[in-house]
Amino acid sequence: MDVRADAAGNLRGLYAGREPGAARLLIGSHVDTVPDAGAFDGVLGVVLGIGLLEALGGRRLKFAVEVVAFSEEEGVRFGVPFLGSRALVGTLDGDLLGQKDAAGVTVDEAIRSFGLDPGRAGEAVLSDDVRGYFEFHIEQGPVLDSLALPLGVVDAIAGQSRLTFVFRGRANHAGTTPMHLRHDALAGAAEWILAVEHLAGGVPGLVATVGRIAAKPGAGNVVPGEVETSLDVRHADDATRGRAVDALLDSARRIAARRGLRVEWTTQLDQPAVPCNPALTATLGRAVAAAGFQVHRLTSGAGHDAMILAQKVPVAMLFLRSPGGISHHPDETVRPEDVAAAITAGLSFLHELDRLA
Ligand code: HGY
Ligand code: MN
Ligand code: MN
Repeated sequence: MDVRADAAGNLRGLYAGREPGAARLLIGSHVDTVPDAGAFDGVLGVVLGIGLLEALGGRRLKFAVEVVAFSEEEGVRFGVPFLGSRALVGTLDGDLLGQKDAAGVTVDEAIRSFGLDPGRAGEAVLSDDVRGYFEFHIEQGPVLDSLALPLGVVDAIAGQSRLTFVFRGRANHAGTTPMHLRHDALAGAAEWILAVEHLAGGVPGLVATVGRIAAKPGAGNVVPGEVETSLDVRHADDATRGRAVDALLDSARRIAARRGLRVEWTTQLDQPAVPCNPALTATLGRAVAAAGFQVHRLTSGAGHDAMILAQKVPVAMLFLRSPGGISHHPDETVRPEDVAAAITAGLSFLHELDRLA
């Protein structure tokens, strides 16, 4: 493969087709992770893309295949996800390049310190010959494991909202401030976090998570004056997700007002749900069946770079079983026989696409 790094730090390898100037299929996923993660979320999709081409044994297809290792998908460092794949659809713009990490380093500075020129992000945009994007990924949930199935065909990817809240009260002495005179930002945030859990538990298919919290000044003998929290809300239906976010904003306002706190929020992501391309997904389903595996279709609760690529090209995704339904955790794993099944199904998919090309 001809391999290069693009201006957003994505690693891209091209496996040419039989004919020069042939159409191109992208196969990829991300190589960044969440903190204290497992070893398969993202990177398995990249290694499977390479393994799939290796399994061709030098055979060329009517189309070229470009394997992409996206540099940043999780949004952990800069708060906004999908930075790598956004470069391929031309939306890695000035605002995103100006996003700062906890140390105040911007995306632009981080890319430059890596030795690349973000000013050339335009060169990372998909070439016109790209006809589709395919992503292998672990399911990261319990469905395939509960059905004892190795593979799943993704029909849609749930939408997600990511926000940051700041609750402001008044720091004070923990020993001398009577309880009824406090404006405790952490107690207020804690009451709201329980309200988040309660609301999400009452709406089928809704998940809402506060995964990060920071209290200031952070001393055990000081009533917390300021708290910053994250909020992650997901649902397959965008209107349901929007109503849930609105309800959680209202809940934060009411709790803050009753406790004499101020609350503000910013939105880092409002990502609509994305259906996988029906035709490409039907072809994938036929290929999975032809390879001898049951075709189980499911919606992804996790977000994926496919959501971004779908803005430009048809996308399809193939899930591998997550034993125990565990992910974003060191116990995340895959079964070797499921990886073999993915390669077999992936080859069947490439052959079906080659036949149709
Ligand atoms: O959080 C997610 O949806 C994925 O892991 N990026
Ligand atoms: Mn992830
Ligand atoms: Mn992932």
